[in-house]
Amino acid sequence: MAVSVLMVCLGNICRSPLAEATLRHHAARLGLDVIVDSAGTGDWHVGHPPDMRAQEVARRLGGIDVSALRARQVILDDFHCFDHIIAMDHDNHRMLLNLAPADASAQLSLLLDHLPGQEGRSVPDPYYGDDADFERVWQLIDAATEQLMGSLR
Ligand code: 4NP
Repeated sequence: MAVSVLMVCLGNICRSPLAEATLRHHAARLGLDVIVDSAGTGDWHVGHPPDMRAQEVARRLGGIDVSALRARQVILDDFHCFDHIIAMDHDNHRMLLNLAPADASAQLSLLLDHLPGQEGRSVPDPYYGDDADFERVWQLIDAATEQLMGSLR
C-alpha cells in the first residue's frame, strides 16, 4: 500500500505546498507510489493558490507548476488518514502535537529531521521575506524531501 504524507506549515501557501510538490516530484522520478497532500494550521488562506513567490521559485528552480494547489486547514481526520504528518517548523510541530487526538496513528516529525546536518531545525517562514528567502526555503525543502523519499522507499 502506498505510504501517505501530509506536509504542514502555518498558511499552506508558501512552505508546505513546496514540500508537497517536491516530494511528489521525487517520488515520480523514482517511480514510487506516494500519497502526498499539504495543509496549514491556520485558516487565513483556505482556498488560495500558493503565494506567487512560491509559484515562481518552484517554476524557476524546479520546473514544477504548483499553481493548481489550494490551501486547506489541518483537520482531525488527518491524524488517522496519513502515515506521516511533517511540520515545516517547531511552532507548527507544537500545534500539531496539541491538536493530535490520543488515538492518532500518524507519525509526527519535523521536515528537517529528515535532512542530515539540519536535524532539529525549522524551515524559516519566508512570508515576510524576499526572493532570496524563498530560494533558501526551496533548497532546504527540495533537499529534505529528496532524503525523505529515499527513506520512505
Ligand atoms: P507558510 O507561510 O506558513 O509557509 O504558508 C505563511 C503564509 C501566510 C502567513 C504566514 C506564513 N500569514 O501570516 O498570513
